[in-house]
Amino acid sequence: MSDAHVKFNLGNPVEDSEEEVFLPPAPLLAGAHVAGLPSYHEMYSDSINNSDAFWKKIAQELHFFEPSNNGLEYNFDSRKGPIFTRFMAGAKTNISYNCLERNIQRGYGDRVAYLWEGNEPCDSNTITYNQLHEQVLNFSAVLRAHGVKKGDVVAIYLPMVLELAVAMLACARIGALHSVVFAGFSADSLASRIVDAKCKILITADGFFRGPKAVILKPIVDKAIEISKEQGVNVESAIIVEHLNRATAPNGHPAPTVDCSKGIYHKYFSEMQKYKGVDSPVEWMDAEDPLFILYTSGSTGKPKGILHTTAGYMTYVYATCKYNFDLHHENEKDIYWCTADCGWITGHSYLLYGPLMNGVSSVFFEGVPSYPDASRLWAVTEKYKVTKLYTSPTAIRALMAFGDQFVTKHDRSTLSILGTVGEPINPAAWRWLHKVVGEARCSIVDTYWQTETGGHMIVPLPGATPQKPGSATLPFFGVNAVLLDAEGRVIEGPGEGNLCFGKAWPGMMRNVYGDYERFVKTYMQPFPGYYFTGDGARRDDDGYIWITGRVDDLMNVSGHLLSTAEIEGALTQHPKVAEAAVVSAPHDIKGSYPYAFVTLKNGERLSKELIVELKQIVREKIGAIAQPDVIQEAPGLPKTRSGKVTRRILRKIAEGCDSGLGDTTTLVDETVIQQLISGRDNRA
Ligand code: PRX
Repeated sequence: MSDAHVKFNLGNPVEDSEEEVFLPPAPLLAGAHVAGLPSYHEMYSDSINNSDAFWKKIAQELHFFEPSNNGLEYNFDSRKGPIFTRFMAGAKTNISYNCLERNIQRGYGDRVAYLWEGNEPCDSNTITYNQLHEQVLNFSAVLRAHGVKKGDVVAIYLPMVLELAVAMLACARIGALHSVVFAGFSADSLASRIVDAKCKILITADGFFRGPKAVILKPIVDKAIEISKEQGVNVESAIIVEHLNRATAPNGHPAPTVDCSKGIYHKYFSEMQKYKGVDSPVEWMDAEDPLFILYTSGSTGKPKGILHTTAGYMTYVYATCKYNFDLHHENEKDIYWCTADCGWITGHSYLLYGPLMNGVSSVFFEGVPSYPDASRLWAVTEKYKVTKLYTSPTAIRALMAFGDQFVTKHDRSTLSILGTVGEPINPAAWRWLHKVVGEARCSIVDTYWQTETGGHMIVPLPGATPQKPGSATLPFFGVNAVLLDAEGRVIEGPGEGNLCFGKAWPGMMRNVYGDYERFVKTYMQPFPGYYFTGDGARRDDDGYIWITGRVDDLMNVSGHLLSTAEIEGALTQHPKVAEAAVVSAPHDIKGSYPYAFVTLKNGERLSKELIVELKQIVREKIGAIAQPDVIQEAPGLPKTRSGKVTRRILRKIAEGCDSGLGDTTTLVDETVIQQLISGRDNRA
């Protein structure tokens, strides 16, 4: 996008319309890294026109053991040769060193790295950069003693305890790839990730408390190990953090006891004791050595292992975190809080690596925003004097529903930046965040990006970009955001189309782990010469980008991407289900939810019991987040002559439409539509 697109008009903002514009607050503007829109434009042009020099200069703020003259090299057009992105090829560095030793060397060893806040408000802990370094070194020695070496993949299935940060940083220290699996995923999901990356070692915990509930992980892990074995991958050791006993149980109930001493299990704290003081030097990684794998949903149902490498991811995450949250390492009062779980990319980039590389103190939260009550986020904000808060639109919408008094009873005067991620934030939630939470004094930073992009792509700079509720605004430095029509033609100026990126950026994914063909097919082939996001977007008269949502078969539920095919695959494993089609339907809080149509075998009917069983099978095969909210019996599904289910029609039916379903003439049997519309009354 050229600068010419940004022709900002601040005249007569109208309430509740797109014209309403919020300028960066004056105090933020005064001390910001990038102050005012003209500074953004200047840096943006430089980042596009001299991208090599731009990124190399930023990389100089980090430590490289060996430098390189190479900058950002890439090919995005498979007609011209293999697709690749490289950044600073030939250089050597280590991201864990940049998070820890580099900060200690600049005198921040005694600074708090994390303020850990447990599920119960009475459980908290702090860890300094020195202490974190000590633990990471110690745990990296444990990993090495268990045979882990550079290039191995370590599966991590942990709740939000500090050992999760330690484990990830320890892997990075010794050049092992971490593959973090969200602790809400099922045994089947964990196993499929273990098998795909052939993990020999797993780091886990006995269990944890989530709100009022206890979640016991060990039996899930036992099952995942068993499934992996059946599929030919033997997990040789599992290191287990005994967390249940040290955490305060909700409602004063005693913590469940879990035996962690048998089989392949080794207790985390005894292992740490055993290898305390053992030296475990940093592995200097080539710039393009793999750093981690993180699985994300794929349209075909099988999750994709997104592969990120070392120097590019490191530099991009460092830069986006610094500029988009306006972090200043000299300012000890900056208390940053990203509420994401490390099981997702947001936790990787903006709870672990980003803030640590920037040398700030962060809150690391084990709990949920609604426990013990809906004021938790604001109570924690007050407790730690949080200055920058990064959370999800779903959390905002859910808390908004409880009423303002939960927010206003806590002091939020330290807040200056409020960020959101994962899904579009609707203007009403944006305004509530701005007015009620931020007391009309904070910048709202709506960050658009993906697991695949490593870091923010479309995002306002808090001290520079005028904000419009609901728009992720303008591209980050070096990002060439392009809208393409269905035929791949570039849409110049205002318009709507497929959101693509026409230039590589350092944090770009390098591959789908072990499946280069899938990488190219998914992201690079739909529009040759461009990276395709899978999202639709609109550009307004001011050049602002408004994300309109997924244009593929993925759905976004509470900021989590789910694959319709994967949920359908789980449903059809039930012996009574002949066929299933899952679509996303709009939801006030979650953004959208999975709505399942199921065709049953041999005259079976959808009973209450069967619905429970179907929901359960999705929980078992994928995890609770994927469970359909609604299941409707479908005597037949609307299909084209080639047998393709027309989801567009199902989506409309799920939304409650009776007419305006679009072209139905290509269907083999149009009568199923009426059946599905009337069947809606009996859905559950
Ligand atoms: O559809 C977009 C949506 O989330 C997708 C990426 O999901 P995931 O890889 O799980 O990463 C989530 C955290 C970055 C995108 O393709 N999405 C993410 N952020 C936004 C968004 N949609 C609208 N606005 C956002 N700010």
